[in-house]
Amino acid sequence: MAATISGPVSCLSRIAVVTRGARGLGLGICKQLASNGVKVVLTDKDEEKGLDAVEKLKQFPHFDITFHHLNVTDSTNISSLSEFIKTKFKKLDILVNNAAVPGGIIDREKSGILSNILTTGETYERAEECVSTIYYGTKTMTETFIPLLLSSHSPRICIPNKSIQKEIGDIDNLTEEKIDGMVRSFLSDFKEGDLRKNDWPTSLLAYIVSKVAVSAYTRLVAKRYPAICTNYIHPGFVRTEMTGNLGALSAEEAARGPVMLALLPDGSPSGLFYDQTEVSSFTQLASTGVRVILTARDEKRGLEAAEKLKQSGLSDVIFHRLDVTDSSGIASFAEFVKISFGKLDILVNCPSSHLMRRGVTIDAEILNNLNIESEKKTRSIVMDFLSNLKQNYEMGEECLKTNFYGTRDVTQALIPLLLSSNSGRIQKLRNLRSIMAATIGGPVSCLNRIAVVTGGARGLGLRICKQLASNGVKVILTDKDEEKGLDAVAKLKQFPHFDVTFHHLNVMNSTNIASLSDFIKTTFKKLDILVNNAGVAGGIIDHEKLKVFDGKIEKLGKSANPFIIGETYERAEECVSTNYYGTKTMTETFIPLLLSSQSPRIVNVTSLCGKLQYIPNQSIQKEIGDIDNLTEGKIDEMVRSFLSDFKEGNLRKNNWPTSLSAYIVSKVAVSAYTRLIAKRYPAICTNCIHPGFVRTDITGDLGTLSAEEAAKGPVMLALLPDGSPSGLFYDQTEVSSFTQLASSGVRVILTARDEKRGLEAAEKLKQSGLSDVIFHRLDVTDPSGIALFAEFVKISFGKLDILRKQILFQLPIVECRKLDAS
Ligand SMILES: NC(=O)c1ccc[n+]([C@@H]2O[C@H](COP(=O)([O-])OP(=O)(O)OC[C@H]3O[C@@H](n4cnc5c(N)ncnc54)[C@H](OP(=O)(O)O)[C@@H]3O)[C@@H](O)[C@H]2O)c1
Repeated sequence: MAATISGPVSCLSRIAVVTRGARGLGLGICKQLASNGVKVVLTDKDEEKGLDAVEKLKQFPHFDITFHHLNVTDSTNISSLSEFIKTKFKKLDILVNNAAVPGGIIDREKSGILSNILTTGETYERAEECVSTIYYGTKTMTETFIPLLLSSHSPRICIPNKSIQKEIGDIDNLTEEKIDGMVRSFLSDFKEGDLRKNDWPTSLLAYIVSKVAVSAYTRLVAKRYPAICTNYIHPGFVRTEMTGNLGALSAEEAARGPVMLALLPDGSPSGLFYDQTEVSSFTQLASTGVRVILTARDEKRGLEAAEKLKQSGLSDVIFHRLDVTDSSGIASFAEFVKISFGKLDILVNCPSSHLMRRGVTIDAEILNNLNIESEKKTRSIVMDFLSNLKQNYEMGEECLKTNFYGTRDVTQALIPLLLSSNSGRIQKLRNLRSIMAATIGGPVSCLNRIAVVTGGARGLGLRICKQLASNGVKVILTDKDEEKGLDAVAKLKQFPHFDVTFHHLNVMNSTNIASLSDFIKTTFKKLDILVNNAGVAGGIIDHEKLKVFDGKIEKLGKSANPFIIGETYERAEECVSTNYYGTKTMTETFIPLLLSSQSPRIVNVTSLCGKLQYIPNQSIQKEIGDIDNLTEGKIDEMVRSFLSDFKEGNLRKNNWPTSLSAYIVSKVAVSAYTRLIAKRYPAICTNCIHPGFVRTDITGDLGTLSAEEAAKGPVMLALLPDGSPSGLFYDQTEVSSFTQLASSGVRVILTARDEKRGLEAAEKLKQSGLSDVIFHRLDVTDPSGIALFAEFVKISFGKLDILRKQILFQLPIVECRKLDAS
């Protein structure tokens, strides 16, 4: 049962509508949804191509695909599709808003080299069409289909998105009118020729504005309809017609992201921006602790500009003189960066020849994608450019020297330093606003960042310390064992650039915690990163038995080899005190210091066991899962009543887990507490993480990951860019869900030898909330009966997702135990 709950949403009887499904990414999405068993309504404005596509897909015999004509800018088309879906299916489960036009004509030659200047002919009419298709099309489709989506058990909307522009980032105060207003004023500025003046993007313009509008609208819909899991996605740079078949990914590969979102498990987060299959951020705010080195040829103007940036909120700006046409100046600037910082994270090329303002420019983006070996291609761009400039050769030459060769030389000089960065990037720049956008897009600088890691002397904690230090973070490695802690620090200090200090800390000891807090306050006056990692298992692990566990939580059942023994009351108390109260006291104590940081992060190391579903007690699931009404008192009360039931021998009676019980309860408390803190302190990016099944002492060195590999997740969360989502549960580096409730649309076939008992059991399961259960008689000792049953599954569903040999597990769901279905 645990397997069914945490598994993917069943695709049986799920209906999806995909817009512009006849070609490219849309076609890839239709194909992959159909191969997952989803009934797909492939729509396109081109009837012939649509019918053709469906015909081709129907070659796969188990695909269930229908074509429906749809132009997303035509409201009559949309209502006719909605009528069709309503009559035929009475609900819609998945809506993929994929239709888009580029708002101009793709220049195939340029799109190989320039990621931005790939459209020409961006007329007002095309801009209007682009906005109508991408933004208003998505909006009208969503509005029309919301009633049908609300009739689904697990509705999903996902929207492929291509561009992140920070325009409408304030989700708390966002309204539809604001988005519409942005779109309207863009179109009116376009008509009046005021695009440049009013700081709109000036290339791919309608495309960018409409995609930003879609992204913002998605967040709004996610907030307004919590029952519909609504996310948006940048599918990658994809080889489709729109990109002139250039790009890093095939449509098939790129379809994986949207399909993943369409099939997300219930309880998954909504309103997020995905960059391919990873969560990214729509709003990345300024003053993130990124240090900006502003350069200019003219010292006076440069200093003035730096001052202005500071006033506008970018606190950490320094000026350095640089003439990009002077090669010795470039070399000495590179030397300065090397000596001062040892690395460079972001290079923004914006050489400002006065010619740029007259519209004569080669964009610095050329170098972003420039394959340095490909001299021939480079030369042809340069020649093209020159041939357009015959009338004023000198100006052209100066412009080229500054904008192109200058950019190239600076880039080449700084490439070694960019390679020393964890995430080096080169960006293009047009104006002050995009400086902000560019710098904020990068990772938070690790310079002068202070981290505290608990339980840092060994295992996962030690590797987290190591990786943070290698990113340039000052690490305070803490542990309750002084000798081991000092030993660990001595070893890490072998890396000369690591800045690691030991501090003694038992997370169960409040005097220890206060003394650490005093030390951090006096020495650094702030804390940037708190990693609550210290943990104990609450019993003795039987490593022989653990071998069969193999990282799969569903193997935890009684009959499947309990690998933990000696779970005494004292150990349960220690486990809860370390894992939950340790995390809580640390967090409470350090919040004031975290609030003094510009980019504070809390990372709580939880476990897969820290998912709510592993506490079978339904009323606890409801109470602790309800983030809107969650309080610290409720979490503490859960922990208290667990300990009291443990003492009184009432674990089974009151529906607690009975194996790994203290570990599960303490980790669930940590996960819930994470959500609470994230909500209470929006300025602190707080997330929790299951690091994977890791080879450390706690697992007797068994596991699928080394501690070094597993540390990547917590470190990623510690270094998340500003504006990243908070309050999430990560399963390694991917977002997962803390609350995954039963009846997720998974169809369960319950089998038993005895028909009467089987039917009764199925009925009881239905009453307990698992709506989609059917019974089939099966005697597992009868081979012909087994063959018949297999035939039944094949004919009815064509596939099987999960096979549970025994459903009697004491751990995950209590109803099974009550039923005693043997
Ligand atoms: N390994 C896995 O597969 C796995 C899976 C899911 C979650 N986790 C979680 O990952 C975290 C790290 O575990 P691990 O695998 O690295 O286990 P580990 O090798 O046993 O390390 C546990 C660390 O926690 C420290 N610790 C325990 N009680 C403490 C206390 N009262 N105060 C301060 N430090 C204390 C230990 O310090 P001493 O050296 O002084 O004993 C040790 O450094 C734990 O929260 C665990 O629950 C691990």
